[in-house]
Amino acid sequence: MCGIVGYIGKQKASAIILEGLKRLEYRGYDSAGIAIQQGGRFEVAKKAGRVEGLMKGTPALKITGTTGIGHTRWATHGGVTDANAHPHLSSDGRIALIHNGVIENYAGIKKFLLTKGYTFQSETDTEVLCNLIAYHYQKEPAAQGESRFLEAVRKTLRHVDGTYGIAVMCGDCPAEIVSARKGSPLILGVGDGELMLASDVAAIISRTQNVVYLKDGEVLHMTAQNFSISTLDSEDVSPVVDKITWKIEDSELNGHAHFMEKEIFEQPAALENTMRGRFSEDGSTAQFGGLNISAVDLRQTDRLHFLACGSAWHACLVTEHLIERFARVPVEVDYASEFRYRNMPLGNSTLFFTVSQSGETIDTLAAMREARRKGYKVLAINNVVGSSIAREADGGIYQHVGPEIGVASTKAFTSQLLVGALLALYLGRMRDMNFSDGVEYVQALKGVPDLVRRTLELAPAIKEIAKRYAHYHDFLFLGRLSLFPVALEGALKLKEISYIHAEGYPAAEMKHGPIALISEQCPSVFFVPSGEMFNKVVSSMQEIKARKGKIIAIATAHCELPAGLADEVIRIPECHEAVLPIVATVPVQLLSYYIAVELKRDVDKPRNLAKSVTVE
Ligand code: F6R
Repeated sequence: MCGIVGYIGKQKASAIILEGLKRLEYRGYDSAGIAIQQGGRFEVAKKAGRVEGLMKGTPALKITGTTGIGHTRWATHGGVTDANAHPHLSSDGRIALIHNGVIENYAGIKKFLLTKGYTFQSETDTEVLCNLIAYHYQKEPAAQGESRFLEAVRKTLRHVDGTYGIAVMCGDCPAEIVSARKGSPLILGVGDGELMLASDVAAIISRTQNVVYLKDGEVLHMTAQNFSISTLDSEDVSPVVDKITWKIEDSELNGHAHFMEKEIFEQPAALENTMRGRFSEDGSTAQFGGLNISAVDLRQTDRLHFLACGSAWHACLVTEHLIERFARVPVEVDYASEFRYRNMPLGNSTLFFTVSQSGETIDTLAAMREARRKGYKVLAINNVVGSSIAREADGGIYQHVGPEIGVASTKAFTSQLLVGALLALYLGRMRDMNFSDGVEYVQALKGVPDLVRRTLELAPAIKEIAKRYAHYHDFLFLGRLSLFPVALEGALKLKEISYIHAEGYPAAEMKHGPIALISEQCPSVFFVPSGEMFNKVVSSMQEIKARKGKIIAIATAHCELPAGLADEVIRIPECHEAVLPIVATVPVQLLSYYIAVELKRDVDKPRNLAKSVTVE
């Protein structure tokens, strides 16, 4: 949510910052802007719309100067206008600021600043923060040896409530950027004679692999020669320089039309990476390096509680099903945003898990903090290494699927399902699952990349179906047991990238209300597995057919569907129960993708959305 880039070095800052903003645009794409230091003043270019527009429609790229900041916005306070775009300048013109987050007490601060003669050009909380820094800068001299600019930022931040990742420049300090975070991610890239700042590594990897992850409450002071990190109370912090393992090619399209398409087709390799090194030597169970909990403690845990948002929450629902089925441990799944404000009784030996691709989702982070505050251990399942959630968790499991840039989650979702299946195996083998069932389960998981590869071969046929169905305005997605959350995921994928209304339901629940929607104008996508649920699902399909509803069936190979029941049949391979949700997800990803393409939607940057939701 909002992308931040900063640069100090010897190169022309505008070109590097605009390139970084393009790579961060998936974080927010309402508006974009840059400010470059130019002989004691700022050259600013900002505009509602995409980074591309900023590059074409303004002389942004022509701005010279080697120190600057840039921003892509996802609007919170104030509409999508040129005036509300970042960077903001203080009314005395001394301070330039970009911000990701929400300043909750901005109204009171604004009132105060108005009495001091500061003026405002926008409706944003960010401009208030900018003027407050200017106020502290002009009012109070710094302590001996301290940068007055740095101290003004610290003083300001001690007065604000809310969340922020900021980068600030001061006209009097030509080659300095001060940056700070609370609840919004910031990463420093340490290059060869240059420093870069960004909200995530995508903007940095083309210039350096050496990074420092800023922590909440830390303030970074960058100069042309060096950088230092301190707390809001001016205590020095020793930086830890980490190495990024992602490569620049990971965040490029490599011939695909969209990142979503690329990431759907990357799934066999991504799943291979998620499970690499995660099977025991005897091939009967899973193993994890970073759980930081002993087998004895895990064995004694009598309840697991999963917290997540969006697609990650759907992944938790599948995991709940698998853990209860194979390990017989009760599982609770909560929306992270609800858990924090609920007051549910929690058992003593409950273990918490958070699931988050980005590791920065503020609702999930806040829920995790609440569980830890109550004294519970929280383990994190994340993709982004070094993310806030990963760092604050007591232990966890990395997904290792590389950067996910398409706003709609695809490879990260199926990888979360795989981690859930591995966990169910691990916990199951600690309890009642015997050796040979464990071996069979492991073999099934090892076969997942190939099953997904075979399912991806259905893409041309699914594309044709998508063309026939793209004009409908409503869809139902229906599945049972572990395929019910896949139905939820299918409905979410379709609505978020094509803007078609879609709902996911347990197939049998459909007759308790949603069936009223059924007509020739509302198709249903059914997940049809062979086995005990087959006849039940077929009955639900008959109920739809009797009401002239069109049916797209995603059926496993052995299902013998009554002739004429489904209008379209997508055949997926038969597979083990633990991997079926992964395989069944692929056709709905493809169907949603091709429908959105058919409707000419902006697949990777759907309206109103942004990757990594860092505001409550
Ligand atoms: C949907 C989607 C979102 C995310 C949700 C959580 O396609 O991507 O629903 O799953 O915002 O994000 P993370 O996993 O980063 O916490």
